[in-house]
Amino acid sequence: MSIISPNVTHPESAENFARKTSAALADGTFIRLVLSRPVSKELPQKIMARLIRLRGTPHLSLTLRNSTQDMAKNLVMPQVAGWLKEQLGGAFRSALLCTTTRDWQFISNESGVARLVDHKPSETQLVSQDHDKKAACILDSSAADWLHGLEILDRDGRVRASMADKHRQINHYLEIVSHLAKDCGWLEMPKEAASLHFADMGCGKGYLTFGLWHLFARLQKRPVRVTGVESRPDLVNTTNRLAKQIGANGLEFVQGDIASVKLPPLDALIALHACNTATDEAIKRGIELGAKLIVVAPCCHKELRPQLGKPEPLAAVLRHGLMEERMAEWATDGLRALFLEWAGYRTKIMEFVGGEHTPKNLMIAAVREREAFVDVAARKQIEEMKTFLGVERHALDALLTECARPRTQQREPSEGTQNGLAGGSLNIAAPGDGRTPNPK
Ligand SMILES: C[S@@+](CC[C@H](N)C(=O)[O-])C[C@H]1O[C@@H](n2cnc3c(N)ncnc32)[C@H](O)[C@@H]1O
Repeated sequence: MSIISPNVTHPESAENFARKTSAALADGTFIRLVLSRPVSKELPQKIMARLIRLRGTPHLSLTLRNSTQDMAKNLVMPQVAGWLKEQLGGAFRSALLCTTTRDWQFISNESGVARLVDHKPSETQLVSQDHDKKAACILDSSAADWLHGLEILDRDGRVRASMADKHRQINHYLEIVSHLAKDCGWLEMPKEAASLHFADMGCGKGYLTFGLWHLFARLQKRPVRVTGVESRPDLVNTTNRLAKQIGANGLEFVQGDIASVKLPPLDALIALHACNTATDEAIKRGIELGAKLIVVAPCCHKELRPQLGKPEPLAAVLRHGLMEERMAEWATDGLRALFLEWAGYRTKIMEFVGGEHTPKNLMIAAVREREAFVDVAARKQIEEMKTFLGVERHALDALLTECARPRTQQREPSEGTQNGLAGGSLNIAAPGDGRTPNPK
């Protein structure tokens, strides 16, 4: 990182930044521009800008992010430098320009003293400029009935200020799920194929359950059954009432415990923000019910912290409580991903929502691709990691015990259950069990 013209006055840095933006737009290296730290609450919290083509002409497309909604505006190229200088001349204190060759940061303090800093490029791939190919917003007007029922929209159909983060979170979650659905081969399946069945464990008020149903039933227009599982009967009654009111065929909420509720074989199991080891219970249920896709976003992590050793050379850092807490989260979720790998899943750990909304923003997505419990290297990794960290018990240890039995003794999915419903003992469905396409 180098600092160009530090501590120079505001107009020069703003002008320099605007010039660099115009140059990047002209020479094809522009990736994106973000303005942040507005000087007043009346201004948008952020402006995100990207290059698009409208009827063949390049435009800078701006998204003005307000607390309740986003607004869009397009600028033609000759307008850009002037507009940018105006914004940096008093409206926004920070700006980031990403290009394929360098990232440029404009930073000004409260007294208007500004500097320009450059970094290595954070990205080097250009993004598509095709405006028409822009992904449609998942929470479109057809979602208004349930968003209103869940009090995310007000009577006039506007996102309530207090629910703006939740609205964004649902949209982002559904974008992630639609990518994962593609990965699972569900988007290519003929629409008349058998109904997919998803369960949302610990679904609470049902924000994400309604969202899941909306994505597949209304947007994808394919047969789907979505079951929300929740321990609180009051929430189950409210969500079932809303599902009935909007005519949500295939969406139901049941009262039960994640660990024991009876469910049929599943295509996907979701558990977002289920406390402590409830996330592990959900993972176990997903594996035993043969889910092709398991998505969890853990909440609190209490199980491992008292067990964590302080192996050298980490001990000096782990004497800080906060670092120990972070390590416990890291270890819990890292081991969860390893257990899923051992169960035959390809896993990915990603950020679910921006860290500015909640520190509990990690998501583990797992797509089943291999036979469960045969990869000895995957098992060894779990054991070595537990030994290194001093972990004696992890809520997913049952997966190691279960597979210690000869595979011929493992039960088939519906054995020992009523009406094909399984209720909470490890009961593994094999890959390619006919519910979802075999791994490619
Ligand atoms: C933090 S909320 C998350 C709700 C929802 N998943 C979301 O992300 O918006 C957790 C919910 O899980 C429910 N819950 C916790 N443990 C549970 C269990 N063992 N079985 C069923 N529901 C549970 C709670 O009652 C609560 O409504």
